[in-house]
Parts: sequence; structure tokens; C-alpha cells
Amino acid sequence: MKGELLLFSSVIVLLQVACSCPDKCRCHSSTNFVDCSRQGLAQIPSHLPPQTRMLHLQDNRIHHLPAFAFRSVPWLMTLNLSNNSLSNLAPAAFHGLQHLKVLKLTQNSLLSLESRLFHSLPQLRELDLSSNNISHLPTSLGKTWENLTILAVQQNQLQQLDRALLESMPSVRLLFLKDNLWNCNCHLLGLKLWLEKFIYKGGITDGVICGSPDIWKGKDLLRIPYELYQPCPLPAPHPVSSQAQWQGSAHGVVLRPESHNSGERDLLECELKPKPRPANLRHAIATVIITGVVCGIVCLMMLAAAIYGCTYAAITATYRGGPLAQTNEPGKAEAKERFDSSPA
Ligand SMILES: *[C@@H]1O[C@H](CO)[C@@H](O)[C@H](O)[C@H]1NC(C)=O
Ligand SMILES: *[C@@H]1O[C@H](CO)[C@@H](O)[C@H](O)[C@H]1NC(C)=O
Ligand SMILES: *[C@@H]1O[C@H](CO)[C@@H](O)[C@H](O)[C@H]1NC(C)=O
Ligand SMILES: *[C@@H]1O[C@H](CO)[C@@H](O)[C@H](O)[C@H]1NC(C)=O
Repeated sequence: MKGELLLFSSVIVLLQVACSCPDKCRCHSSTNFVDCSRQGLAQIPSHLPPQTRMLHLQDNRIHHLPAFAFRSVPWLMTLNLSNNSLSNLAPAAFHGLQHLKVLKLTQNSLLSLESRLFHSLPQLRELDLSSNNISHLPTSLGKTWENLTILAVQQNQLQQLDRALLESMPSVRLLFLKDNLWNCNCHLLGLKLWLEKFIYKGGITDGVICGSPDIWKGKDLLRIPYELYQPCPLPAPHPVSSQAQWQGSAHGVVLRPESHNSGERDLLECELKPKPRPANLRHAIATVIITGVVCGIVCLMMLAAAIYGCTYAAITATYRGGPLAQTNEPGKAEAKERFDSSPA
């Protein structure tokens, strides 16, 4: 009797856990959709139904995501965290979300992102990071995001975007990049090249408008001619970068030597200078003038040769007493001459 009671109560407890819905949320069990939006929440509610597939947490005041924040909802496919106060995400915040396809983080206060943050999201298709304060994205993800098709980072503070990061998203088709602080120096050449290929293959982007340096401010990166780009100088090996590399490998992440400290130094070193253009132009003009002069001389020489030839032929013809009209047919005259001289 006691055992039955225990079983009965534990079944009730289990049912409660399985069917529970957090206070401020509405749970639609038939669609596994949980809506906790606009509730003034400061944290992720506990006791979310474990089978939840779609979770709306937008328009709240959540400011921090701890590690394994969504451990209780491993089947999540869509997560909306738009319009919160997130500035700080634990690197393992999204760990365990093996099935997540859509992640919305727009309108928060994020400043930067670590590549580790996304290591655990193999199925991600859509990532919206727009309208944050992100100034730095990871240089690479470590491994590819083979299914990511939409990436939105518009309205942030980005100055650079590493080509290696884009290359780790081979399926991306829509890319929102507008309204950032793109620094169109040599470091953005990789992005330019990548974007051209991307558009050629049918990808869609809202464009990269340069924020600096001054000569390119307001210009579209794709319309700046290649000739004006100088390749970035190779970073000279110095203690800081080798230390960074060493630390990187200790963490199992290979940091490229040009990132961080040395990157910023290069950034200063390799600002696009408008100088090369006049120099090139001067070269070009000089080349044209020299070519013109040489051509002119050659033409004059040819003319002189022609005149000399004609005069000579005319004189010879006159000397031999032939009619002047014959010189108009040099072939004949020549043939005659040869005929005249050969038997002798
Ligand atoms: C963001 O959320 C707040 C409530 O936290 C709401 O008042 C506001 O309208 C939301 N903003 C947008 C653009 O939806
Ligand atoms: C996420 O929430 C925002 C409101 O802040 C809304 O505009 C958007 O449509 C939502 N997106 C998804 C996929 O739920
Ligand atoms: C972004 O940072 C600027 C200062 O750098 C600040 O004024 C602004 O409020 C921040 N925006 C958000 C959404 O946090
Ligand atoms: C990408 O999507 C396909 C089809 O849904 C899936 O089979 C594949 O496992 C996904 N890739 C990863 C890395 O999960």
C-alpha cells in the first residue's frame, strides 16, 4: 500500500515536471512552443518544459546568460532573445543545443563574441546579431558551420571581418553587413574579394559602406578599385604576437599572428595612402610620351626611307632613259632591271 502511494505520488511529480509551465510564460504543448516574451524577466525561467522546440524570450530584461543556460530544453530549434539587455554571454551559454536552427540576438548590448560560444551549435541556419555593440567577431570558428545560411551583423561597431570566418560558412546566402564602422584599409581586401565571389555565386548582401579612412568614408567597398589596395605588410615577428600564439595553442585555438595586438599595429601601418595614384599616373604619362616619341621617330625614318626609295627609283629610271611613267610600276621596273642584268 505504501509502495503504491509512493509510485502514485512520484508519477504525479513527474507529470507536473513534464507538463509544468513557468509562471510568466504561455506553453502551447501541442506545438512545443513556449512564449515568455514581454514579461520583464531578468533571467531564463526555470522549469521550462523539456520538449520545448521554440522559445520566445524577446522583449525582456535578461542581461546575462550563464553556462548551460538551456540545458533543460535540449530539443530547442528556435530561440528568440531579441530586445534584452544581454552584454555578457558565458562561453558555454548555448552548450547542449544540438538542434538549434534559429538564434535571434538582435537589439542587445553585446560587445564581442567568442568562437567557443558557437562551437556547440552544429545545426545553426540563421544567426541574427544585428543592432548590438559588437566591435569584434572571432577570426575563425575553429570548425565550419556547414548549414548556416543567414548571418546578420548590421548595426554594430565592426571595423573588420576576417575572411577565414566567412569561409567557415560555406552555405551562407544572405549576409547583412550595413551600418558598421568598416575600416576599408588593406585588411578589408579579403572581405572585398570574398564578397565579389559571394555575389557572383548568387549570394545577397546589403553592402559594406566604409566608415574610414577619410578618403573612402561613405563609399561602397565593392566599388573601390583594386589598384588602390596595397597588400598588407606581413607582420614582423615580435614578442607579443608569439606570446599570443603560444597562449592560443595552449587553449587549443590557433590564433593567427595578425590578430589582436599586432593586427592593430598593422592597421595603423597600412592605412590606405592616396599617394600611389599620382605616382602611377606619372609613370603612365611618362610611358605614353616615350612610346609616342619612339613611334614618331620610327614613322619619320620609315617616311624618309620611302621617300629615299622613291627618289632613288625615279633617278635610276631617269638615268637609264626610261619614261618616268614606268617608275609608277616598281615591280615591272625591278623585273626589267633583273632581266637586264641576269644574263650578263
Ligand atoms: C523592447 O522591450 C521593451 C520591454 O522590455 C518594450 O517596451 C519595447 O517596445 C521593445 N522594443 C521593441 C523595438 O520591440
Ligand atoms: C523575435 O522577436 C522579435 C521582437 O523583438 C520579433 O520582431 C521577431 O519576429 C522574432 N523572431 C522570431 C523568429 O521569433
Ligand atoms: C553602444 O556603445 C555606445 C558607446 O560606445 C553607447 O553610447 C551605446 O549606448 C551602446 N549601445 C548599446 C545598444 O549598448
Ligand atoms: C546540416 O544539415 C543537414 C540536413 O539537415 C544535416 O544532415 C547535417 O547533419 C547538418 N550538418 C551539421 C554539421 O549538423
